Amino acid sequence: MARIRVGIVGVGNIASMLVQSIEYYKRIDSREGLIHEVIGGYGIEDIEFSYAIDVSEAKVGKDLSEAILEYPNLVRMPLKVPKLGVTVRMGRILDGVAPHMAEDFRPSKTHPEPSLEDIVGELLENDVDVLVNLLPVGSEEASKFYAEAAAKAGVSFVNAIPVFIASSRNGIVEEASMRGAPILGDDIKGQLGSTIVHRALASLIRMRGAKLLETYQLNIGGNTDFKNMLELERLSSKKVSKTMAVASTQEKPETLVKEGKVYAGPSGYIPFLGNTKISHMYIKVQAFAGSEVEIELRLKVDDKAMATPVLVDTIRVAKILKEHKIGGSIPWASAFYFKHPPIPVKSDYEALKMLYEGLEKLGAKVKPVLLEYY
Ligand SMILES: NC(=O)c1ccc[n+]([C@@H]2O[C@H](COP(=O)([O-])OP(=O)(O)OC[C@H]3O[C@@H](n4cnc5c(N)ncnc54)[C@H](O)[C@@H]3O)[C@@H](O)[C@H]2O)c1
Repeated sequence: MARIRVGIVGVGNIASMLVQSIEYYKRIDSREGLIHEVIGGYGIEDIEFSYAIDVSEAKVGKDLSEAILEYPNLVRMPLKVPKLGVTVRMGRILDGVAPHMAEDFRPSKTHPEPSLEDIVGELLENDVDVLVNLLPVGSEEASKFYAEAAAKAGVSFVNAIPVFIASSRNGIVEEASMRGAPILGDDIKGQLGSTIVHRALASLIRMRGAKLLETYQLNIGGNTDFKNMLELERLSSKKVSKTMAVASTQEKPETLVKEGKVYAGPSGYIPFLGNTKISHMYIKVQAFAGSEVEIELRLKVDDKAMATPVLVDTIRVAKILKEHKIGGSIPWASAFYFKHPPIPVKSDYEALKMLYEGLEKLGAKVKPVLLEYY
């Protein structure tokens, strides 16, 4: 079986978790904790790294196994990743580093920034199958720059962040479509994160014939992802992505959002929380004969452990799509895994069915078949 050669853009906490957890699973027999053990014959052990880009002086020039542990990254699994033979390359800074993050991301002054053609060349030289975008929220220009490079190189692009690339018309999707390069996105929906839990509750309300009146979801955390989002302008797309993910489970999502009845977004940076994310949710419901129901919930997760298993799945799906030369934005492959897919789907059951039907057509089997648990 071929290997999946992955490139990373942004060697931050999720990248660190991805690299360390792949090493973790290589060392044990169990595959517990993954969403799918096998997709189209690929397991987690088939993922390898062939390319990485960052702009931080602490990370550029280092082997990926070392760069993932550099400041300000926090993920530390109880194992040592051996040298990977992948040197982190200098990227294009553009809008990746907000002024208030300059001390954390510390852009290198000694490495020259590459051109688009340089990145295309490096992707081809390193035989990258799938490029994963893990830039800070608000990196609109930088994300589009790397997405365009992936499209030009015919490389799959997994857009983990809330910049709307797969879900908008921007020229990149068209170029990727022409070159058989799939784009999956946008904005990873964590394994058991606040979005999926909130969506499940909101769907349940509809499924029981009740009506969601108003709801909020407040999130606090202590890593650079949360610190970066202190700048309100940078997080506007994150709010749209999270709010629509919840609202799209309901009958009239646009009306709910327009009337301000759904709020979901990052709400605070508390450094001592580190990678722990705490989410508070509130839902007010109208049920039988106008009676009111209130739901309040507190969710505590390791934020990076929630995003990573979704990447482990989407990297494999992106590789399979590339093998079949299916390029551009792929709604059926994105709806289950992303908060802001090209076509929003009301229930995650529906989204999973779409995914399985799409994979089935390509002859790609999954294990376990999660529809059995719905
Ligand atoms: N549960 C989750 O953690 C979750 C869920 C959905 C989406 N996301 C998104 O995933 C992204 C990555 O999260 P993270 O916690 O790893 O972020 P992070 O802050 O730990 O890492 C960001 C990295 O990007 C680098 N960078 C900045 N500008 C760059 C540029 N122009 N080119 C190359 N590298 C650049 C930084 O130096 C840093 O290493 C964020 O946008 C986050 O919102 C996270």
